Amino acid sequence: MMLQTDLGFARLNNPIMPASGCFGWGREYIELFDLKTLGAVVTKATTYLPREGNATPRVAEAPAGMLNAIGLQNAGLHAVVKTDLPWLLEQKLPVLVNVAGSTVEEYVQVAAGLAEFPLLGLELNLSCPNVREGGIAFGLQAESVHRVVQAVKAECQLPLVVKLSPNVTEITELAVAAAEAGASALTVINTLRGMAIDIEHRRPLLANTFGGLSGPAIKPVALAMVWQVASAVDIPVIGCGGISRVEDVVEFLMAGASAVQVGSASFSEPLLLPRLVWELEAWLQEHQTSVTELVGAAQRKDEIND
Ligand SMILES: Cc1cc2nc3c(=O)[nH]c(=O)nc-3n(C[C@H](O)[C@H](O)[C@H](O)COP(=O)(O)O)c2cc1C
Repeated sequence: MMLQTDLGFARLNNPIMPASGCFGWGREYIELFDLKTLGAVVTKATTYLPREGNATPRVAEAPAGMLNAIGLQNAGLHAVVKTDLPWLLEQKLPVLVNVAGSTVEEYVQVAAGLAEFPLLGLELNLSCPNVREGGIAFGLQAESVHRVVQAVKAECQLPLVVKLSPNVTEITELAVAAAEAGASALTVINTLRGMAIDIEHRRPLLANTFGGLSGPAIKPVALAMVWQVASAVDIPVIGCGGISRVEDVVEFLMAGASAVQVGSASFSEPLLLPRLVWELEAWLQEHQTSVTELVGAAQRKDEIND
């Protein structure tokens, strides 16, 4: 009970889930731990057609984090629906399928292809730095966020979790647009635009020039954005960005997140996700509290006690 969390459209046994793109479809992890330990699984992005992704090199180390420009490499909707998704659903745990596209129509096509599956919901990745529509990165304007969420909602009854980009002037404007268009929850945040230079060859290190920064380096930014978004909308927020310790999870919950996603940190520690579940339970026991009591606790200034 202590670990349970309420996403509005669903109750989860605990608030810990992997971040999209950092867990594949879970196949590699099943050898290491029971996936049912997790609150939910979030899959790698699915686009309508298969994508090979960007040219290499497409990952680089950064201080306290990493840069990636994978470019949404995936097998495409039809392969996903035939192989990866049925396998994951057999594991009998809540599944959020991360959906990406280059146009509104592509998001709708993918969502329509997933609509009949018993999913927890779809996570609309409106924030990939490498996906563009008419030369403008998709998901950076309130208007296009509203348009895509509304269009997907019209075609698919599944709850929609909208994943927002931090690479904007005011993330709360996007959050409000997504909520008004019918999003059930928001994931905050995706990666921050960054780059590295190969100084021997005097050129960008990543073939794509820019990549997304993730890992502990972005935690304070993610936390601030979760706080801002949680104050601006009434739908639940899933916090994401730089989580690597149980204290980070507690911080995100207190900032207003109802659940969290863990990405880059599990590359260096594949058992991090189950460890965070156990450590969170121990933390809650030690502090005689529950996840629901912690959600937004730092926002409720009138209730501070020592
Ligand atoms: C290698 C890699 C691949 C990613 N692929 C996706 C993706 O397919 N869809 C998506 O919404 N986010 C993707 N992300 C972003 C993560 O889900 C997450 O938002 C970000 O890494 C911040 O969390 P972290 O600091 O815990 O890694 C990817 C991140 C990494 C590092």
